[in-house]
Amino acid sequence: MNKKTLKFVGYCLAVSAPLSLNHSLAQTDSSIWDGVFTEAQATRGETAYSANCASCHSTDLRGNSNTPSLLGMSFMFIWENQSLAELYTKMRNEMPSDNPGSLSTQTYEDLLAFLLRSNQFPAGEQALKADTAKLTKISITPKPVFSQ
Ligand code: HEC
Repeated sequence: MNKKTLKFVGYCLAVSAPLSLNHSLAQTDSSIWDGVFTEAQATRGETAYSANCASCHSTDLRGNSNTPSLLGMSFMFIWENQSLAELYTKMRNEMPSDNPGSLSTQTYEDLLAFLLRSNQFPAGEQALKADTAKLTKISITPKPVFSQ
């Protein structure tokens, strides 16, 4: 490859990287508003939350001066347009922060369902699974205007 070709390849990479990012966002094929967890998961998650998370994030999920709130605007401020895979991984790898990764996969799935239900996302028929490839395709988006 001569210098000119290299320069061209570099240019192509630079332009196509942001484009492919947009593309993958647009390709989101499951919406968080279709119901991506079950009521049963969220209810189990509520129990797991009380046992493992409430001591820091408080029973009402609103946190305190040392621990962030997991609700509403504070939640969306951090998680809007991120994928469920990112939220799942954060919880799985870092929470509870005094004993990270200490819970079972099912418990982390249940906790994610509980966090979503607490933030007014709807339950549905399909159970949420810790399948990163699938969770990557589900973005945390505000309620679409047309369904309000
Ligand atoms: C020992 C205290 C403690 C416990 C227990 C704990 N957390 Fe956290 N959590 C924190 C702190 C401090 C942060 C902020 C720092 C960070 O993001 O790592 C945090 C951040 C988070 C975040 C990212 C910030 C946000 O606003 O979304 C999530 C999600 C979360 N915790 C979920 C959980 C869940 C679920 C549990 C229970 C399995 C849990 N935490 C247990 C202290 C705790």
